[in-house]
Amino acid sequence: MNEERYYDEIPYRSKIFKESLPENSYIAGLLYGVNGVLPDKARVLEIGCGVGANIISFGLNHPKSKLVGVDLSSKQISMANELKKRLGTKNIEFIKKDILEIDKKFGEFDYIIAHGVYSWVSDDVKRAIFKIFKECLSENGIAYLSYNTYPGWKGKEILRDIMLYRNGEVSSNNKIELGFDTLRHLKNNALDGVIKKVIDDNYDDLIKRNPSYIMHEYFESINSPNYFHEVASCAKDSGLNFLCEADWQSSIFPPVNENLNNALKAESKGDRVRFEQFIDFIVNKTFRRTLFTKAKPKDEVNIEFSNLDKFFVSGNFIYDNTNRVYKNAQTNTIMPKGMGKLFDKLSEIYPSNLSVGEFISELKTSKSDEEIREFYTNLAYLLCSKKVDFSIYKKELLNDIPKKPKLGKNSIELVKFIKEYDGIVSFFSPLYDNIQLNSDCDYELLPLMDGTRDIEELASELVNLEKSGKFNFIIEDMVVEDESKIESMAKAYVKDKVDLLFKFGFLV
Ligand SMILES: C[S@@+](CC[C@H](N)C(=O)[O-])C[C@H]1O[C@@H](n2cnc3c(N)ncnc32)[C@H](O)[C@@H]1O
Repeated sequence: MNEERYYDEIPYRSKIFKESLPENSYIAGLLYGVNGVLPDKARVLEIGCGVGANIISFGLNHPKSKLVGVDLSSKQISMANELKKRLGTKNIEFIKKDILEIDKKFGEFDYIIAHGVYSWVSDDVKRAIFKIFKECLSENGIAYLSYNTYPGWKGKEILRDIMLYRNGEVSSNNKIELGFDTLRHLKNNALDGVIKKVIDDNYDDLIKRNPSYIMHEYFESINSPNYFHEVASCAKDSGLNFLCEADWQSSIFPPVNENLNNALKAESKGDRVRFEQFIDFIVNKTFRRTLFTKAKPKDEVNIEFSNLDKFFVSGNFIYDNTNRVYKNAQTNTIMPKGMGKLFDKLSEIYPSNLSVGEFISELKTSKSDEEIREFYTNLAYLLCSKKVDFSIYKKELLNDIPKKPKLGKNSIELVKFIKEYDGIVSFFSPLYDNIQLNSDCDYELLPLMDGTRDIEELASELVNLEKSGKFNFIIEDMVVEDESKIESMAKAYVKDKVDLLFKFGFLV
């Protein structure tokens, strides 16, 4: 099946890839001395945009940016246009177009995004993607490319081969089921060796994945991973430079000890691509999200303390009394010591963010120059390690949950769209997170959060839904029949949901 028909028949679930968006690329540029265009005024192109959730989420936050989404599948482009219309996003144009047809006449862009495309297209389209980067990227532009990588995919490829073989040439509706069935047999019977190891390493994760992901990775006609050095070499041939990974902490803090780090540095002789390729061998890398620039980046991260003042930071932290450390409440990561005051303040205003400049001016009234320098050093570490969320924009969100919770108008429209189009896009937040919705009840419950009902009233609406047979509360595989139990479970469900929506910045 050709690519256009494939995605027309099986549209790909569209969601946000936060690290592909210009806010992230812009900060990566700053770290390596490339001054990108400010995202809120940028021209952005997403190639292979699918149903467009990623670029639409960015457009909603930055109405002055100029955005274009391109995809080969007319069905996905028409859904993207419908979503755009429902959300009232005026600054995006979705165009059905083949990547092969795009050249410099198509326009100039400050950011180009290609997520989930490169490894799943033929070599001529791969070359065309780099041609687009070369011809359509502005002077200080930044391109984002994600792709499957070797050596990690050498193993996964075996699983793909096995599942494809089981399905043969016959197109079947239960490809995934048949494929998993064979893997299950092999898991129980394969003799010790590479296949057994690969199945043992991947099976449990694989069977939990979304079917559209499995179809895309394991059953699409093309999945051709590359070594990082091969992709970087194509970039170089197109006049582009490797900036860093979109998750730059992996570039800045490679997971090797100091001795090995030094040995690899010596072997690589300052060639960052060669160095990172060795790291990929060490970690058995399966996927990369790489940023490329036309401008030449610095070889090392260079952070001027005064530049940190321009950032806004956010996060939710808990103090672990036993170990006497702060931990990130979401990721449980241990935070560096000596910054408790910042973590307390951030938790207090969470999910809003805080101006670093303002916080430091206040600190300066009570701290010595040396202490302030140490604070900046820690802050630079937090930025490089991505242990705290850094933004260049102020996010003013509610600091408390209102008595009558209200979702933003766009979020309500988004839920309605998701319901109508059977979950084809994720429920995405203004902070670029994807939230899992329970289709049985959230599709009905969330639109009721329009600021006219308190938790009790929302809970009683949920009880009505339960009574109408839309869903049931279940305890240990048994449907709950007791009315007072149903009421208390409904109230707890609504409370948790509102709490979650608040934390992810959905409430207005
Ligand atoms: C796996 S989907 C990824 C969609 C989206 N970027 C994401 O990550 O959710 C790959 C997308 O690339 C598009 N595509 C494949 N070949 C293309 C081509 N030659 N020109 C334009 N789009 C193409 C497909 O239609 C599909 O929407």
